[in-house]
Amino acid sequence: MPTLLVLGAAGQVGRALVEAGPEHGWIVRGLARDAIDICDANAVKAAVAATAPDAIVNATAYTAVDKAESDAELAQRVNGEAPGIIASAAAQAGIPFVHLSTDYVFDGASRVPYKEADPVGPLGVYGRTKRAGEIAAYKAGGRCVILRTSWVFAPWGSNFVRTMLHHAALKPELRVVDDQRGAPTPATDIAATILKILPRLAEDDGKSPTGLFHYQGRPPVTWAAFADAILDEAALLGHPRPPVVRIATADWPTPAARPASSVLDCARISRDYDITPPDWRPALARAVKELLAGVKAG
Ligand SMILES: NC(=O)c1ccc[n+]([C@@H]2O[C@H](COP(=O)([O-])OP(=O)(O)OC[C@H]3O[C@@H](n4cnc5c(N)ncnc54)[C@H](OP(=O)(O)O)[C@@H]3O)[C@@H](O)[C@H]2O)c1
Repeated sequence: MPTLLVLGAAGQVGRALVEAGPEHGWIVRGLARDAIDICDANAVKAAVAATAPDAIVNATAYTAVDKAESDAELAQRVNGEAPGIIASAAAQAGIPFVHLSTDYVFDGASRVPYKEADPVGPLGVYGRTKRAGEIAAYKAGGRCVILRTSWVFAPWGSNFVRTMLHHAALKPELRVVDDQRGAPTPATDIAATILKILPRLAEDDGKSPTGLFHYQGRPPVTWAAFADAILDEAALLGHPRPPVVRIATADWPTPAARPASSVLDCARISRDYDITPPDWRPALARAVKELLAGVKAG
């Protein structure tokens, strides 16, 4: 069986890949932060030498969007530079590489869904450093797919779903912004997509589509509508269901500005890889159930 090296194995997408890889015929070698610092080029080379993988996925990132504003140097090393280190190691080994990026590379002013070739305009450090990482990964020159995704959630890790469930148990109402539009994307669906792409990308025939792809759940919603969907699912399981009060971004100041619209056009991945992002709501129901079971157990 081929071996898949997953960097960021303890993150939302990383863990989903570690769990789903074997069902797709991969031996997965997952490395979390305690096992490797991806900013260390020698450590990355050593990990590739030790695992002799047939493909690499970079599921690491500095994902704390607000904290990145005051921690730009580290965000740049993790998001902007390390993807180039990993992509170079993959290119030298002659194996495919999948990297993840974000809707936050866009400024959010577009009224129509963003295509891969649309001009970027990141509003903050996170988006700027992730854009630098796209370029670094691409420049390494190997067989590389860069998936831009958005609003990732899972039954594990830090995410908006967990935050809403936590606050719902404590507060009489939840104030949530209703003028930022995007789409939630289950980490499990991202993992399934990567595992569908990899065998094609591994065919070293020079024909597998490479470069940037958009992949985002559907349908698009605002954060407030997402919060309502989360709390409706939770209420079915007996969790407290405070009302969601819709507010404007201006009423919820944060260190990092966020795009008003980050709806992505996913036609390219559908055309080139026959992958259509599914509705995120069934995965949300599973995530809410598992998170609440964890909350209750804990
Ligand atoms: N989360 C979202 O809403 C979202 C939206 C759009 C795109 N994305 C992109 O999707 C990808 C996966 O996101 P995710 O939500 O799964 O991220 P995540 O849950 O935050 O996981 C990222 C992992 O990377 C690890 N990491 C950070 N710096 C590292 C370093 N120097 N060396 C090794 N590991 C390091 C983190 O470890 P620690 O926890 O120990 O720091 C964490 O386990 C990322 O590329 C992200 O930019 C995410």
